[in-house]
Amino acid sequence: MVEVEIRQYLQSDREQCRGLWRELTEWHREIYQEPTIGGENPEDAFDEHLTKIGPDNLWVAVHKSKVLGLVGLIVKENEAEVEPVIVSGSHRGKGIGRQLVATVITVAKQRGFRFLNVRPVARNQAAIHFFYNQGFRTLGHIQLFMDFSGSSWKQGPEIFGHNFNY
Ligand SMILES: CC(C)(COP(=O)(O)OP(=O)(O)OC[C@H]1O[C@@H](n2cnc3c(N)ncnc32)[C@H](O)[C@@H]1OP(=O)(O)O)[C@@H](O)C(=O)NCCC(=O)NCCS
Repeated sequence: MVEVEIRQYLQSDREQCRGLWRELTEWHREIYQEPTIGGENPEDAFDEHLTKIGPDNLWVAVHKSKVLGLVGLIVKENEAEVEPVIVSGSHRGKGIGRQLVATVITVAKQRGFRFLNVRPVARNQAAIHFFYNQGFRTLGHIQLFMDFSGSSWKQGPEIFGHNFNY
C-alpha cells in the first residue's frame, strides 16, 4: 500500500494527468500490439476528456505532490461511467487504483445514481480482474464486431456456449 491523498483535480495537475493518459495509451498499444493507437499526441485526449466531463468529475491520487493516478466519471442522467482510471506504471499493484475507484463508488452513491458502469476493452484482462475485485460483477452491454482489416485476434472467452475472439 502507498499512502496517497485522493482529491479533486486542479488545473495545476494538467501536465501530470496528460502524462498518465499517455501511459494509458501505451498500455493499450501493448495489449493490442498496435503502436498507432492514440495517434502521435495521445495526451491531447486528456484535455478533450476534461472538456467533456468537467473538473468536478475528475480526481487524482497524490503522493508527495506527485500525481500517481487519475479517475474520472462520465455522467449521463441517473447513471455514470468510470472513465478513465489510470495508475502510473511503477505504482500499480499498491492499492492506488482501489482507492481511486472507491472514491467514485462513494460519489456515485452520494449523487444517487442508479448505475455505475465501466467499459474496459475485452483485451484488458488485468482491468477486468481489477474491476471484478472492486465489485463490478454484472454484465451490461456486450459489443460484438466484424474486423475487415485482417488483424489477428486471440481466442476466447466463451459466452453462453459461443467462443469469441478478443
Ligand atoms: C487497472 C489499474 C487502474 C489498477 O490499479 P492498481 O493500483 O494497479 O490496482 P490495485 O493495486 O489497487 O489493485 C486492486 C485490486 O485489483 C487487483 N489487480 C490489480 N491489477 C491486477 C492485475 N493486473 N491482474 C489481476 N488483478 C489485479 C489486485 O490484486 C487488487 O485486488 P484486491 O482488491 O483483492 O487486493 C492499473 O493497473 C492501471 O492503471 N492499468 C493501466 C490502465 C488501465 O488499464 N485502466 C483501466 C482502463 S478501463
